[in-house]
Amino acid sequence: MREDFTGWCKTVQSQMEAALLSHLPATSLVPHTLHEAMQYAVLGGGKRIRPLLAFAAGELFDALPDGIERAACAVEMIHAYSLVHDDMPCMDDDDLRRGKPTVHKKYDEATALLVGDALQSQAFELIAGGTLDAERKVVMISRLARAAGSLGMCGGQAIDLDSVGISLTRQALEQMHRLKTGALLEASVMLGALAGKSLLDNEELALRTYSSAIGLAFQVVDDILDATADSATLGKTAGKDAASNKPTYVSILGLNESLALAEKLRQDAHEALLLFGDAAMRLRELADLIVQRKT
Ligand code: IPE
Ligand code: IPE
Ligand code: MG
Ligand code: MG
Ligand code: MG
Repeated sequence: MREDFTGWCKTVQSQMEAALLSHLPATSLVPHTLHEAMQYAVLGGGKRIRPLLAFAAGELFDALPDGIERAACAVEMIHAYSLVHDDMPCMDDDDLRRGKPTVHKKYDEATALLVGDALQSQAFELIAGGTLDAERKVVMISRLARAAGSLGMCGGQAIDLDSVGISLTRQALEQMHRLKTGALLEASVMLGALAGKSLLDNEELALRTYSSAIGLAFQVVDDILDATADSATLGKTAGKDAASNKPTYVSILGLNESLALAEKLRQDAHEALLLFGDAAMRLRELADLIVQRKT
């Protein structure tokens, strides 16, 4: 019998903790403080949603454990880097992340900047290593680079910072969310799948449709939680978007319409997976988790 979803998540999360530790430079290596700060940013916290997506997609396409693990660690390192920079005073200026002081508070701003830079390099080095064939690795590196760069996460972050105090159209808001958060979630699914057997065109399209739905849903729910949950539950400062005058789904559509949109995206994600039948159960469960999460 298959493990239940909660048990599967716990197994992946603890496997990830060990894998991330093994793929980060040891703190005994010089520069000690930078390596300690990298571990501080990555280990011991976070929901690991991106690795869970990479594992679910990798398992669907029979990827080998080392390939899935490298893909999952790489996307989580890019994500952790994005959080470290997102929290810096020049961006969202946040003191709390994953229930702990942010990296620039615990260390200093220069260290936080370098932690992000170094995690990004580490992510690509990780995919370049391992036993997958070279052609496959290049595709994975290229997809991750696109998702993290100015046409993905960094681009979304730039739009976010430029939009303070501005009332974006719904279309512009959606584009911002798809870039700043959706792109890396989509890459998490695609890299996990790419670590496995070749995808048929219709399978690739189905995965893209699924990832696009959960990618947008993820940030819609992040906006909802920012407005409705408390800091202790979130492990980050609640109410920050309104306080910083950020355009969000809640500020533009209101709470009820935002909740309805998240639910609609959850259904779209399920529909996209019909082609895979029961084999895509984990991806379906992850779509539910992304929309129904409380943290
Ligand atoms: C928070 O991401 C930042 C966004 C992209 C919305 P998560 O909610 O996945 O943060 P962790 O990894 O669980 O801390
Ligand atoms: C950040 O979005 C998305 C990233 C690329 C890090 P937010 O600024 O809303 O993320 P939180 O709420 O601080 O986690
Ligand atoms: Mg931000
Ligand atoms: Mg932020
Ligand atoms: Mg947020």
